[in-house]
Amino acid sequence: MSVLIVHDSIYGNTASIAKAMAEALRPDHDVRLEAVNPGHIPDLAGVELLIVGSPTRGFRPTPAIQEMLEALPDAPLAGLRAAAFDTRLDLDTIHPAPLRWVVEVGGYAGQTIERRLVDRGCTIAGAATGFLVLGTEGPLKAGEQERAAAWAQGLVATQDAIKGAA
Ligand SMILES: Cc1cc2nc3c(=O)[nH]c(=O)nc-3n(C[C@H](O)[C@H](O)[C@H](O)COP(=O)(O)O)c2cc1C
Repeated sequence: MSVLIVHDSIYGNTASIAKAMAEALRPDHDVRLEAVNPGHIPDLAGVELLIVGSPTRGFRPTPAIQEMLEALPDAPLAGLRAAAFDTRLDLDTIHPAPLRWVVEVGGYAGQTIERRLVDRGCTIAGAATGFLVLGTEGPLKAGEQERAAAWAQGLVATQDAIKGAA
Protein backbone atom coordinates (compact mmCIF):
# COMPACT_ATOMS: atom_id res chain seq x y z
CA MET A 1 0.00 0.00 0.00
CA SER A 2 1.19 3.51 -0.78
CA VAL A 3 1.13 5.62 2.40
CA LEU A 4 1.90 9.32 2.82
CA ILE A 5 2.52 10.62 6.35
CA VAL A 6 2.59 14.42 6.59
CA HIS A 7 3.30 16.07 9.91
CA ASP A 8 4.32 19.25 11.63
CA SER A 9 6.40 19.35 14.80
CA ILE A 10 7.81 22.25 16.79
CA TYR A 11 9.89 20.37 19.37
CA GLY A 12 10.28 17.04 17.55
CA ASN A 13 7.79 14.86 19.41
CA THR A 14 5.20 14.65 16.63
CA ALA A 15 8.04 14.01 14.18
CA SER A 16 9.17 11.07 16.36
CA ILE A 17 5.65 9.65 16.35
CA ALA A 18 5.42 10.01 12.56
CA LYS A 19 8.83 8.36 12.15
CA ALA A 20 7.78 5.44 14.36
CA MET A 21 4.74 4.94 12.13
CA ALA A 22 6.82 5.09 8.95
CA GLU A 23 9.40 2.64 10.29
CA ALA A 24 6.69 0.20 11.34
CA LEU A 25 5.08 0.25 7.88
CA ARG A 26 8.20 0.40 5.68
CA PRO A 27 9.08 -3.27 5.61
CA ASP A 28 5.80 -4.07 3.83
CA HIS A 29 4.59 -0.81 2.31
CA ASP A 30 5.63 2.11 0.16
CA VAL A 31 5.85 4.92 2.74
CA ARG A 32 6.65 8.60 2.24
CA LEU A 33 7.30 10.61 5.40
CA GLU A 34 7.13 14.39 4.92
CA ALA A 35 7.41 17.35 7.25
CA VAL A 36 4.83 19.94 6.27
CA ASN A 37 6.41 22.49 3.99
CA PRO A 38 4.56 25.82 4.11
CA GLY A 39 3.42 26.86 0.64
CA HIS A 40 4.02 23.38 -0.72
CA ILE A 41 1.22 20.90 -1.44
CA PRO A 42 2.21 17.26 -1.00
CA ASP A 43 2.02 15.10 -4.11
CA LEU A 44 -0.95 12.76 -3.66
CA ALA A 45 -0.49 10.84 -6.91
CA GLY A 46 -0.83 7.13 -6.19
CA VAL A 47 -1.36 7.65 -2.45
CA GLU A 48 -3.81 5.12 -0.98
CA LEU A 49 -3.63 6.18 2.66
CA LEU A 50 -2.93 9.72 3.86
CA ILE A 51 -1.97 10.21 7.51
CA VAL A 52 -1.78 13.79 8.82
CA GLY A 53 -0.36 14.67 12.24
CA SER A 54 0.21 17.83 14.24
CA PRO A 55 1.04 18.95 17.74
CA THR A 56 -2.04 20.33 19.50
CA ARG A 57 -1.46 24.07 19.97
CA GLY A 58 -4.30 26.07 21.46
CA PHE A 59 -6.66 23.10 20.90
CA ARG A 60 -5.87 23.10 17.17
CA PRO A 61 -3.32 21.93 14.61
CA THR A 62 -0.43 24.25 13.75
CA PRO A 63 -1.09 26.98 11.16
CA ALA A 64 1.13 25.15 8.66
CA ILE A 65 -1.01 21.99 8.87
CA GLN A 66 -4.23 24.00 8.68
CA GLU A 67 -2.97 25.88 5.62
CA MET A 68 -1.88 22.65 3.94
CA LEU A 69 -5.33 21.11 4.48
CA GLU A 70 -6.94 24.23 2.99
CA ALA A 71 -4.60 24.16 0.00
CA LEU A 72 -5.01 20.49 -0.92
CA PRO A 73 -6.80 20.14 -4.25
CA ASP A 74 -10.34 18.70 -3.96
CA ALA A 75 -10.42 16.20 -6.77
CA PRO A 76 -7.51 13.94 -5.75
CA LEU A 77 -8.94 13.76 -2.24
CA ALA A 78 -12.34 12.37 -3.20
CA GLY A 79 -12.60 8.95 -1.59
CA LEU A 80 -8.97 8.93 -0.46
CA ARG A 81 -8.56 7.01 2.80
CA ALA A 82 -7.12 9.24 5.48
CA ALA A 83 -6.50 9.44 9.20
CA ALA A 84 -5.38 12.10 11.67
CA PHE A 85 -3.26 12.10 14.78
CA ASP A 86 -1.90 14.65 17.19
CA THR A 87 0.39 14.99 20.13
CA ARG A 88 -0.98 16.55 23.30
CA LEU A 89 -0.19 17.05 26.94
CA ASP A 90 -0.80 14.09 29.25
CA LEU A 91 -3.69 15.40 31.39
CA ASP A 92 -2.04 13.90 34.51
CA THR A 93 0.83 16.40 34.12
CA ILE A 94 -1.45 19.47 34.04
CA HIS A 95 -1.93 21.36 37.29
CA PRO A 96 -4.11 22.77 38.72
CA ALA A 97 -7.05 20.46 37.98
CA PRO A 98 -9.37 23.12 36.47
CA LEU A 99 -6.75 23.74 33.77
CA ARG A 100 -6.91 20.02 32.96
CA TRP A 101 -10.63 20.42 32.33
CA VAL A 102 -10.03 23.40 30.01
CA VAL A 103 -7.46 21.47 27.97
CA GLU A 104 -9.73 18.44 27.68
CA VAL A 105 -12.86 20.38 26.77
CA GLY A 106 -10.94 22.63 24.35
CA GLY A 107 -10.29 19.68 22.07
CA TYR A 108 -7.33 18.44 20.12
CA ALA A 109 -5.64 18.91 16.76
CA GLY A 110 -6.52 15.41 15.52
CA GLN A 111 -10.24 16.10 15.69
CA THR A 112 -9.86 19.29 13.64
CA ILE A 113 -7.65 17.59 11.07
CA GLU A 114 -10.14 14.74 10.77
CA ARG A 115 -13.04 17.15 10.22
CA ARG A 116 -11.09 19.00 7.53
CA LEU A 117 -10.17 15.72 5.79
CA VAL A 118 -13.85 14.75 5.74
CA ASP A 119 -14.80 18.22 4.44
CA ARG A 120 -12.30 17.73 1.62
CA GLY A 121 -13.88 14.43 0.58
CA CYS A 122 -11.61 11.90 2.29
CA THR A 123 -12.93 8.69 3.77
CA ILE A 124 -11.74 8.27 7.34
CA ALA A 125 -9.63 5.13 7.66
CA GLY A 126 -9.65 5.07 11.46
CA ALA A 127 -10.60 7.39 14.30
CA ALA A 128 -8.21 10.24 15.06
CA THR A 129 -5.96 9.58 17.99
CA GLY A 130 -3.58 11.47 20.26
CA PHE A 131 -0.13 10.60 21.59
CA LEU A 132 0.97 11.97 24.93
CA VAL A 133 3.85 14.24 25.86
CA LEU A 134 4.87 14.85 29.47
CA GLY A 135 5.56 18.58 29.02
CA THR A 136 5.29 21.26 26.35
CA GLU A 137 8.62 20.29 24.80
CA GLY A 138 8.26 16.58 25.57
CA PRO A 139 9.45 13.99 26.10
CA LEU A 140 6.89 11.55 24.78
CA LYS A 141 5.27 9.40 27.44
CA ALA A 142 6.85 5.94 27.57
CA GLY A 143 5.38 3.55 25.04
CA GLU A 144 3.84 6.17 22.75
CA GLN A 145 6.11 5.38 19.77
CA GLU A 146 5.14 1.72 20.07
CA ARG A 147 1.46 2.70 20.28
CA ALA A 148 1.92 4.88 17.18
CA ALA A 149 3.48 1.98 15.28
CA ALA A 150 0.58 -0.29 16.24
CA TRP A 151 -2.00 2.39 15.32
CA ALA A 152 -0.50 2.82 11.85
CA GLN A 153 -0.27 -0.93 11.31
CA GLY A 154 -3.91 -1.26 12.34
CA LEU A 155 -4.97 1.40 9.83
CA VAL A 156 -3.16 -0.33 7.00
CA ALA A 157 -4.47 -3.77 7.98
CA THR A 158 -8.03 -2.41 7.92
CA GLN A 159 -7.51 -0.87 4.47
CA ASP A 160 -5.99 -4.10 3.18
CA ALA A 161 -8.99 -6.06 4.50
CA ILE A 162 -11.40 -3.62 2.82
CA LYS A 163 -9.49 -3.91 -0.47
CA GLY A 164 -9.45 -7.71 -0.16
CA ALA A 165 -13.19 -7.83 0.41
CA ALA A 166 -13.98 -5.52 -2.53
C1 LIG B 1 1.51 27.55 22.45
C2 LIG B 1 1.21 26.12 22.84
C3 LIG B 1 -0.13 25.71 22.92
C4 LIG B 1 -0.43 24.40 23.33
N1 LIG B 1 -1.74 24.02 23.40
C5 LIG B 1 -2.04 22.76 23.80
C6 LIG B 1 -3.40 22.34 23.89
O1 LIG B 1 -4.35 23.08 23.62
N2 LIG B 1 -3.64 21.07 24.31
C7 LIG B 1 -2.64 20.18 24.61
O2 LIG B 1 -2.94 19.05 25.00
N3 LIG B 1 -1.34 20.56 24.51
C8 LIG B 1 -1.03 21.81 24.11
N4 LIG B 1 0.29 22.19 24.00
C9 LIG B 1 1.35 21.19 24.17
C10 LIG B 1 1.72 20.66 22.79
O3 LIG B 1 0.74 19.76 22.37
C11 LIG B 1 3.11 20.02 22.80
O4 LIG B 1 4.04 21.08 22.85
C12 LIG B 1 3.31 19.19 21.53
O5 LIG B 1 2.56 18.01 21.59
C13 LIG B 1 4.77 18.84 21.32
O6 LIG B 1 4.87 18.32 20.01
P1 LIG B 1 6.08 18.75 19.07
O7 LIG B 1 7.33 18.38 19.82
O8 LIG B 1 5.90 17.93 17.84
O9 LIG B 1 5.99 20.22 18.79
C14 LIG B 1 0.61 23.49 23.62
C15 LIG B 1 1.95 23.92 23.53
C16 LIG B 1 2.25 25.21 23.15
C17 LIG B 1 3.69 25.65 23.05
